[in-house]
Amino acid sequence: MTAPKIFVTRRLPEETLNLLRAECEVSLWPHDAPPVPRDILLWEVRDAQGLYAMLTDRIDAAVMDAAPGLKVISNMAVGYDNIVVKEATARRIPVGNTPGVLTETTADLAFALLLAAARRLQEGADYIRRGQWKTWIPFELTGRDIHGKTLGLAGMGRIGAAVARRARGFDMPVIYHNRHRAPEREAETGARYVSWGELLAQSDFISIHTPLTDETRHLFNAAAFQQMKRSAILINTSRGGTVDPLALYEALKRGVIAYAALDVTEPEPLPITHPLLTLPNCLIIPHLGSASVATRMKMATMAARNLLAGVKGEPLPHCVNPEVYGGRQAG
Ligand code: DGY
Repeated sequence: MTAPKIFVTRRLPEETLNLLRAECEVSLWPHDAPPVPRDILLWEVRDAQGLYAMLTDRIDAAVMDAAPGLKVISNMAVGYDNIVVKEATARRIPVGNTPGVLTETTADLAFALLLAAARRLQEGADYIRRGQWKTWIPFELTGRDIHGKTLGLAGMGRIGAAVARRARGFDMPVIYHNRHRAPEREAETGARYVSWGELLAQSDFISIHTPLTDETRHLFNAAAFQQMKRSAILINTSRGGTVDPLALYEALKRGVIAYAALDVTEPEPLPITHPLLTLPNCLIIPHLGSASVATRMKMATMAARNLLAGVKGEPLPHCVNPEVYGGRQAG
Protein backbone atom coordinates (compact mmCIF):
# COMPACT_ATOMS: atom_id res chain seq x y z
CA MET A 1 0.00 0.00 0.00
CA THR A 2 1.43 3.41 -0.89
CA ALA A 3 1.79 5.95 1.91
CA PRO A 4 -0.74 8.80 1.79
CA LYS A 5 0.66 12.06 0.52
CA ILE A 6 0.41 15.09 2.76
CA PHE A 7 1.42 18.71 2.36
CA VAL A 8 2.88 20.70 5.27
CA THR A 9 2.77 24.46 4.74
CA ARG A 10 5.70 25.50 6.97
CA ARG A 11 9.04 24.25 8.24
CA LEU A 12 8.51 22.06 11.33
CA PRO A 13 10.83 20.49 13.92
CA GLU A 14 12.44 17.24 12.74
CA GLU A 15 10.69 15.41 15.59
CA THR A 16 7.28 16.34 14.18
CA LEU A 17 8.31 15.67 10.60
CA ASN A 18 9.59 12.23 11.61
CA LEU A 19 6.21 11.41 13.15
CA LEU A 20 4.56 12.33 9.87
CA ARG A 21 7.19 10.67 7.66
CA ALA A 22 6.75 7.37 9.51
CA GLU A 23 3.31 7.03 7.93
CA CYS A 24 3.08 9.52 5.06
CA GLU A 25 4.87 10.81 2.04
CA VAL A 26 5.54 14.35 3.19
CA SER A 27 5.80 17.32 0.88
CA LEU A 28 6.87 20.47 2.70
CA TRP A 29 7.13 24.21 2.17
CA PRO A 30 10.56 24.27 3.80
CA HIS A 31 10.70 27.89 4.97
CA ASP A 32 9.63 29.96 7.95
CA ALA A 33 9.03 32.98 5.75
CA PRO A 34 7.60 33.93 3.38
CA PRO A 35 4.54 31.75 3.87
CA VAL A 36 3.72 29.29 1.15
CA PRO A 37 2.56 31.19 -1.96
CA ARG A 38 -1.01 30.54 -2.94
CA ASP A 39 -0.16 28.99 -6.34
CA ILE A 40 2.21 26.51 -4.71
CA LEU A 41 -0.36 25.61 -2.09
CA LEU A 42 -2.95 24.97 -4.82
CA TRP A 43 -0.47 22.85 -6.76
CA GLU A 44 0.76 20.85 -3.77
CA VAL A 45 -2.69 19.83 -2.57
CA ARG A 46 -3.82 18.46 -5.94
CA ASP A 47 -2.86 14.90 -4.96
CA ALA A 48 -2.71 15.32 -1.17
CA GLN A 49 -4.81 13.38 1.30
CA GLY A 50 -3.76 15.48 4.24
CA LEU A 51 -3.04 19.18 4.69
CA TYR A 52 -1.08 20.40 7.73
CA ALA A 53 -1.78 24.14 7.83
CA MET A 54 -0.79 27.22 9.80
CA LEU A 55 -3.08 30.01 10.98
CA THR A 56 -1.65 32.22 8.24
CA ASP A 57 -2.86 29.93 5.43
CA ARG A 58 -6.28 30.73 4.01
CA ILE A 59 -7.90 27.36 3.42
CA ASP A 60 -11.06 28.05 1.45
CA ALA A 61 -13.23 26.41 -1.19
CA ALA A 62 -10.63 26.99 -3.90
CA VAL A 63 -8.01 25.02 -1.94
CA MET A 64 -10.48 22.23 -1.23
CA ASP A 65 -11.59 22.11 -4.87
CA ALA A 66 -7.95 21.85 -5.91
CA ALA A 67 -7.59 18.83 -3.59
CA PRO A 68 -10.17 16.23 -4.61
CA GLY A 69 -8.54 13.51 -2.47
CA LEU A 70 -8.27 15.58 0.71
CA LYS A 71 -9.28 13.61 3.82
CA VAL A 72 -8.18 15.97 6.58
CA ILE A 73 -7.14 19.56 7.26
CA SER A 74 -5.08 19.91 10.43
CA ASN A 75 -4.40 23.42 11.74
CA MET A 76 -1.45 23.93 14.07
CA ALA A 77 -3.46 26.37 16.19
CA VAL A 78 -6.47 26.34 18.46
CA GLY A 79 -8.07 29.13 16.37
CA TYR A 80 -9.32 28.13 12.94
CA ASP A 81 -10.77 31.31 11.46
CA ASN A 82 -8.30 30.85 8.57
CA ILE A 83 -10.26 27.79 7.43
CA VAL A 84 -13.69 28.02 5.85
CA VAL A 85 -15.02 25.20 8.00
CA LYS A 86 -18.46 25.12 6.39
CA GLU A 87 -16.82 24.36 3.03
CA ALA A 88 -14.84 21.54 4.65
CA THR A 89 -17.97 20.19 6.31
CA ALA A 90 -19.88 20.33 3.03
CA ARG A 91 -17.13 18.12 1.56
CA ARG A 92 -17.05 15.92 4.69
CA ILE A 93 -13.45 16.88 5.41
CA PRO A 94 -12.70 16.89 9.14
CA VAL A 95 -10.78 19.90 10.44
CA GLY A 96 -8.42 19.49 13.40
CA ASN A 97 -7.11 22.07 15.87
CA THR A 98 -4.98 22.14 19.05
CA PRO A 99 -7.15 23.07 22.05
CA GLY A 100 -5.99 22.92 25.66
CA VAL A 101 -2.23 22.68 25.25
CA LEU A 102 -1.73 26.42 24.76
CA THR A 103 -4.22 27.70 27.34
CA GLU A 104 -1.83 28.43 30.21
CA THR A 105 0.97 29.73 27.97
CA THR A 106 -1.37 32.17 26.24
CA ALA A 107 -2.83 33.30 29.57
CA ASP A 108 0.72 33.94 30.82
CA LEU A 109 1.31 36.19 27.84
CA ALA A 110 -1.97 38.06 28.25
CA PHE A 111 -0.96 38.78 31.82
CA ALA A 112 2.55 39.78 30.76
CA LEU A 113 0.99 42.33 28.39
CA LEU A 114 -1.31 43.59 31.14
CA LEU A 115 1.64 44.12 33.50
CA ALA A 116 3.84 45.64 30.81
CA ALA A 117 1.13 48.08 29.75
CA ALA A 118 0.16 49.17 33.26
CA ARG A 119 3.76 49.70 34.36
CA ARG A 120 5.00 51.15 31.05
CA LEU A 121 7.77 48.61 30.57
CA GLN A 122 8.26 49.33 26.87
CA GLU A 123 8.61 53.05 27.51
CA GLY A 124 11.04 52.40 30.38
CA ALA A 125 13.24 50.16 28.24
CA ASP A 126 13.22 52.72 25.40
CA TYR A 127 14.08 55.49 27.88
CA ILE A 128 17.28 53.70 28.85
CA ARG A 129 18.26 52.90 25.27
CA ARG A 130 17.81 56.56 24.33
CA GLY A 131 20.24 57.55 27.09
CA GLN A 132 17.56 59.43 29.07
CA TRP A 133 18.17 57.70 32.42
CA LYS A 134 20.12 60.36 34.33
CA THR A 135 18.75 59.95 37.84
CA TRP A 136 15.75 58.73 39.83
CA ILE A 137 12.83 61.12 39.28
CA PRO A 138 9.81 60.72 41.59
CA PHE A 139 7.11 60.93 38.94
CA GLU A 140 8.97 59.84 35.82
CA LEU A 141 7.37 56.91 33.94
CA THR A 142 4.78 56.37 36.62
CA GLY A 143 2.12 53.90 35.55
CA ARG A 144 -1.01 52.41 36.99
CA ASP A 145 -1.59 49.96 39.79
CA ILE A 146 -2.80 46.51 38.92
CA HIS A 147 -3.84 45.18 42.34
CA GLY A 148 -7.39 46.10 43.25
CA LYS A 149 -8.28 47.15 39.70
CA THR A 150 -11.09 45.49 37.79
CA LEU A 151 -10.21 43.09 35.01
CA GLY A 152 -12.89 42.64 32.36
CA LEU A 153 -12.79 39.57 30.14
CA ALA A 154 -14.43 39.69 26.75
CA GLY A 155 -15.00 35.96 26.36
CA MET A 156 -14.81 33.26 29.02
CA GLY A 157 -13.43 30.15 27.35
CA ARG A 158 -10.44 28.17 28.55
CA ILE A 159 -7.96 31.03 28.09
CA GLY A 160 -10.27 33.64 29.62
CA ALA A 161 -10.66 31.44 32.71
CA ALA A 162 -6.88 30.94 32.95
CA VAL A 163 -6.39 34.72 32.87
CA ALA A 164 -9.07 35.11 35.57
CA ARG A 165 -7.16 32.65 37.79
CA ARG A 166 -4.01 34.72 37.41
CA ALA A 167 -5.93 37.90 38.26
CA ARG A 168 -6.96 36.43 41.61
CA GLY A 169 -3.31 36.33 42.61
CA PHE A 170 -3.13 40.06 41.93
CA ASP A 171 -6.24 40.80 44.02
CA MET A 172 -8.17 41.96 40.99
CA PRO A 173 -11.95 41.69 40.88
CA VAL A 174 -12.84 39.95 37.59
CA ILE A 175 -15.95 40.55 35.50
CA TYR A 176 -16.72 38.94 32.17
CA HIS A 177 -19.11 38.98 29.27
CA ASN A 178 -19.65 35.93 27.11
CA ARG A 179 -22.25 34.76 24.62
CA HIS A 180 -23.42 32.27 27.23
CA ARG A 181 -23.04 32.64 30.95
CA ALA A 182 -20.45 30.17 32.30
CA PRO A 183 -21.45 29.17 35.87
CA GLU A 184 -18.67 26.57 36.30
CA ARG A 185 -16.05 29.13 35.34
CA GLU A 186 -17.64 31.64 37.73
CA ALA A 187 -17.39 29.08 40.53
CA GLU A 188 -13.80 28.24 39.62
CA THR A 189 -12.49 31.80 39.20
CA GLY A 190 -14.82 34.04 41.17
CA ALA A 191 -15.51 36.05 38.00
CA ARG A 192 -18.87 37.85 37.81
CA TYR A 193 -21.01 37.91 34.68
CA VAL A 194 -22.01 41.38 33.44
CA SER A 195 -23.68 42.81 30.36
CA TRP A 196 -21.54 44.01 27.46
CA GLY A 197 -22.18 47.64 28.40
CA GLU A 198 -21.21 47.01 32.03
CA LEU A 199 -18.04 45.25 30.96
CA LEU A 200 -16.98 48.25 28.89
CA ALA A 201 -17.93 50.82 31.52
CA GLN A 202 -16.56 49.11 34.64
CA SER A 203 -13.27 47.54 33.56
CA ASP A 204 -9.87 49.08 34.24
CA PHE A 205 -8.33 46.43 32.00
CA ILE A 206 -10.14 44.55 29.25
CA SER A 207 -8.58 41.37 27.90
CA ILE A 208 -10.08 39.85 24.74
CA HIS A 209 -10.63 36.08 24.61
CA THR A 210 -13.25 35.50 21.92
CA PRO A 211 -12.71 33.57 18.72
CA LEU A 212 -12.93 35.62 15.53
CA THR A 213 -16.34 35.12 13.93
CA ASP A 214 -18.77 37.28 11.95
CA GLU A 215 -20.22 38.42 15.31
CA THR A 216 -16.92 39.34 16.93
CA ARG A 217 -15.24 41.04 13.95
CA HIS A 218 -14.46 44.62 15.05
CA LEU A 219 -16.30 44.05 18.32
CA PHE A 220 -13.96 46.69 19.71
CA ASN A 221 -14.82 49.66 17.52
CA ALA A 222 -15.25 53.41 18.01
CA ALA A 223 -18.58 52.92 19.81
CA ALA A 224 -17.07 50.40 22.23
CA PHE A 225 -14.06 52.61 22.99
CA GLN A 226 -16.42 55.51 23.78
CA GLN A 227 -18.06 53.40 26.49
CA MET A 228 -14.75 52.44 28.13
CA LYS A 229 -12.99 54.37 30.91
CA ARG A 230 -10.51 56.95 29.68
CA SER A 231 -7.95 55.19 31.88
CA ALA A 232 -8.74 51.76 30.41
CA ILE A 233 -6.08 49.43 29.06
CA LEU A 234 -7.01 47.00 26.27
CA ILE A 235 -5.18 43.68 25.88
CA ASN A 236 -5.64 41.43 22.87
CA THR A 237 -4.24 37.92 22.58
CA SER A 238 -7.18 36.48 20.59
CA ARG A 239 -7.32 37.51 16.93
CA GLY A 240 -6.49 40.92 15.49
CA GLY A 241 -9.81 41.10 13.68
CA THR A 242 -11.74 41.53 16.95
CA VAL A 243 -10.43 45.11 17.09
CA ASP A 244 -10.97 47.83 14.48
CA PRO A 245 -7.36 49.02 14.13
CA LEU A 246 -8.09 52.51 12.84
CA ALA A 247 -10.74 53.13 15.50
CA LEU A 248 -8.19 51.95 18.07
CA TYR A 249 -5.60 54.34 16.69
CA GLU A 250 -8.02 57.25 17.01
CA ALA A 251 -9.08 56.22 20.50
CA LEU A 252 -5.47 55.98 21.72
CA LYS A 253 -4.39 59.17 20.02
CA ARG A 254 -7.30 61.21 21.34
CA GLY A 255 -7.16 59.72 24.84
CA VAL A 256 -10.54 57.97 24.60
CA ILE A 257 -8.76 55.00 26.19
CA ALA A 258 -5.31 55.02 27.77
CA TYR A 259 -3.29 52.15 26.36
CA ALA A 260 -3.42 49.02 24.22
CA ALA A 261 -1.17 45.97 24.38
CA LEU A 262 -1.63 43.72 21.37
CA ASP A 263 -0.26 40.29 20.57
CA VAL A 264 -2.44 40.08 17.48
CA THR A 265 -3.28 42.67 14.88
CA GLU A 266 -5.27 43.27 11.73
CA PRO A 267 -3.53 42.71 9.41
CA GLU A 268 -0.73 40.34 10.36
CA PRO A 269 2.06 41.08 9.93
CA LEU A 270 1.38 44.74 10.75
CA PRO A 271 3.09 46.92 8.13
CA ILE A 272 5.94 48.95 9.59
CA THR A 273 4.14 52.10 8.34
CA HIS A 274 0.94 51.35 10.29
CA PRO A 275 -0.23 54.34 12.37
CA LEU A 276 -0.55 52.21 15.53
CA LEU A 277 3.23 51.84 15.49
CA THR A 278 3.66 55.60 15.89
CA LEU A 279 1.91 55.70 19.27
CA PRO A 280 3.78 55.65 22.60
CA ASN A 281 0.71 54.16 24.33
CA CYS A 282 0.50 51.05 22.17
CA LEU A 283 2.65 47.97 22.75
CA ILE A 284 2.61 45.46 19.90
CA ILE A 285 4.28 42.06 19.74
CA PRO A 286 4.15 39.56 16.84
CA HIS A 287 1.53 36.90 17.77
CA LEU A 288 3.53 35.21 20.52
CA GLY A 289 0.64 33.99 22.71
CA SER A 290 1.54 30.31 22.56
CA ALA A 291 5.22 30.86 21.84
CA SER A 292 7.00 28.78 24.45
CA VAL A 293 9.16 25.93 23.14
CA ALA A 294 7.22 23.34 25.13
CA THR A 295 3.80 24.57 24.04
CA ARG A 296 4.68 24.94 20.37
CA MET A 297 6.05 21.37 20.43
CA LYS A 298 2.80 20.13 21.95
CA MET A 299 0.81 21.98 19.29
CA ALA A 300 2.97 20.58 16.50
CA THR A 301 2.55 17.02 17.81
CA MET A 302 -1.18 17.41 18.39
CA ALA A 303 -1.67 18.70 14.85
CA ALA A 304 0.40 15.78 13.54
CA ARG A 305 -1.78 13.30 15.45
CA ASN A 306 -4.94 14.88 14.06
CA LEU A 307 -3.51 14.67 10.57
CA LEU A 308 -2.40 11.03 10.90
CA ALA A 309 -5.81 10.02 12.20
CA GLY A 310 -7.48 11.84 9.31
CA VAL A 311 -5.44 10.25 6.54
CA LYS A 312 -6.14 6.82 8.04
CA GLY A 313 -9.87 7.57 8.09
CA GLU A 314 -10.00 7.56 11.89
CA PRO A 315 -11.84 10.23 13.91
CA LEU A 316 -9.55 13.15 14.73
CA PRO A 317 -8.62 13.42 18.41
CA HIS A 318 -9.55 17.13 18.19
CA CYS A 319 -12.07 17.89 15.50
CA VAL A 320 -13.88 21.24 15.11
CA ASN A 321 -16.57 19.88 12.78
CA PRO A 322 -17.45 16.44 14.18
CA GLU A 323 -20.72 16.62 12.26
CA VAL A 324 -18.73 15.31 9.27
CA TYR A 325 -18.93 11.93 10.97
CA GLY A 326 -22.70 12.11 11.32
CA GLY A 327 -24.42 8.99 10.08
CA ARG A 328 -21.26 7.20 9.01
CA GLN A 329 -18.00 5.83 10.35
CA ALA A 330 -14.90 7.93 9.88
CA GLY A 331 -13.18 6.85 6.71
C1 DGY B 1 -3.78 29.75 18.17
O1 DGY B 1 -3.39 28.60 18.36
O2 DGY B 1 -4.87 30.00 17.67
C2 DGY B 1 -2.88 30.83 18.61
O3 DGY B 1 -3.26 32.07 18.16
C3 DGY B 1 -1.44 30.54 18.24
O4 DGY B 1 -0.66 31.25 19.16
